[in-house]
Amino acid sequence: MRVMLLLMLMLMACLPSAGALELSSRHHPVGVKVPSTMTLPQGMQADDKGRLTCSTCHGIDKLEDRKREDIEEIRRRHADDFLRGGPWQKRDDFCFQCHDEKPYQRLNIHAQLDERGKLREENCKYCHREVPDREHPPKRRELKLRLPVDRICLGCHLKTPHLNALEHSRKPEEKMRQRIREAEKTHKVILPLGDHGQVTCVTCHSPHEKGVIDEGHPAGRQAADRSVEEGPDYQPSRWSPVYQADKEARLMELERKSGEPVELDYKRLAGEVLVRLPAADGSLCRACHQFND
Ligand code: HEC
Ligand code: HEC
Ligand code: HEC
Ligand code: HEC
Ligand code: HEC
Ligand code: HEC
Repeated sequence: MRVMLLLMLMLMACLPSAGALELSSRHHPVGVKVPSTMTLPQGMQADDKGRLTCSTCHGIDKLEDRKREDIEEIRRRHADDFLRGGPWQKRDDFCFQCHDEKPYQRLNIHAQLDERGKLREENCKYCHREVPDREHPPKRRELKLRLPVDRICLGCHLKTPHLNALEHSRKPEEKMRQRIREAEKTHKVILPLGDHGQVTCVTCHSPHEKGVIDEGHPAGRQAADRSVEEGPDYQPSRWSPVYQADKEARLMELERKSGEPVELDYKRLAGEVLVRLPAADGSLCRACHQFND
């Protein structure tokens, strides 16, 4: 009991003196000078010494003198001005008014051709030690990849970038391997397996922007009705009927085993990019799976 009292006294001694509103340690720095390279947007002003103040970002009169317990109410009542120019849907959009967006953005190394269609060779070198000859593509063994093919996408991408990616990193049975070879011939594509014969990211995905490798070459063929900058597009919908039957059977088996309902949020593809065959119409899946449609 006495320890508790002591603790409470110590805590109270640490409380801020009345008046100034204490900010969380993760709050944006205040009082810092706006560098000459930064332009503040209209409606946001630094003080007469060129420093950030509360009212640079917050459109609330004397926010620094308000009580902590009133903040939530103030925020609700002034949704459009708690952060000036709001309400903001994405935090980043607020930040990028002052900060340069570029250094915060991840480099999309799949954007491999510039506006004039010229190769961005520095992007090739993320994965290749030397820029490969596009006219006469070298064999896999001579490609000089910086990492084994089944690891080269990780680091930038998670192992689980989407549903089912992890479940796919397995070696197909001989019957499926036969099917893959036939599909490669029929569609004139490559569906390369990993160093241990397993399905990997590049089995389904091309790492290259369309046009980097000639489309007449099997490695150059891909489904791309969107740009790499846009990425794929989804429309909320039921599963595509092509693999619905297969999926349902497997799901029921899973449910039976786990004794719990399994719910998956499948999305319908409305636009594709960087896939070797379209998945939207089932072609990609059918290169390996047989469905009883
Ligand atoms: C560079 C812009 C900027 C400046 C300058 C600034 N803030 Fe903020 N403040 C923010 C942002 C961004 C948030 C987060 C808003 C959210 O989460 O909705 C925030 C949140 C807050 C909050 C609510 C969250 C919390 O920490 O309790 C308070 C209170 C607050 N600011 C007070 C102040 C005060 C007082 C000052 C001046 C001493 C100040 N701010 C200066 C950008 C700024
Ligand atoms: C009104 C302009 C303005 C807005 C809006 C703004 N910042 Fe800043 N920010 C600054 C200034 C000025 C500095 C200090 C100078 C510098 O580091 O460039 C700074 C510094 C920083 C720093 C470096 C802090 C440090 O300790 O070195 C980070 C990180 C940062 N801001 C992130 C953000 C984020 C995240 C947001 C959005 C929530 C944001 N900023 C919104 C103006 C702004
Ligand atoms: C994200 C990693 C990555 C980047 C970036 C990358 N490649 Fe590749 N590249 C690979 C992988 C993995 C393979 C082997 C699988 C394949 O053929 O698609 C490959 C294969 C190739 C091949 C041989 C194709 C074949 O199988 O016949 C050529 C040619 C090639 N890359 C050229 C390039 C050029 C040119 C660039 C730059 C514009 C580039 N690559 C950028 C990962 C990458
Ligand atoms: C240096 C980092 C980096 C590496 C390595 C990398 N990627 Fe990406 N990738 C990105 C970025 C950035 C995007 C843009 C979307 C995002 O931010 O997730 C992207 C997007 C994609 C997309 C979605 C299409 C698009 O344009 O948005 C696919 C598919 C993809 N990558 C496949 C791969 C595959 C397969 C590999 C390995 C051969 C690979 N990536 C290696 C950074 C990387
Ligand atoms: C069995 C085939 C298959 C495998 C294996 C696979 N993917 Fe995908 N991936 C797809 C399909 C299909 C899409 C949907 C987009 C499309 O069709 O353009 C997709 C989408 C993506 C996207 C875009 C996600 C988004 O919502 O923007 C990224 C990034 C991606 N894959 C990365 C990877 C990486 C990294 C691996 C390996 C760890 C991998 N994929 C393995 C088939 C596959
Ligand atoms: C390159 C061959 C290949 C492609 C392309 C492919 N799969 Fe697979 N798929 C496999 C392998 C290998 C397995 C794991 C072993 C098995 O189930 O036979 C698998 C497993 C699955 C599973 C079971 C996962 C689990 O949890 O057990 C589903 C569902 C599935 N695939 C759906 C799809 C769909 C949908 C597509 C098209 C977007 C697709 N596959 C494309 C080879 C492929």
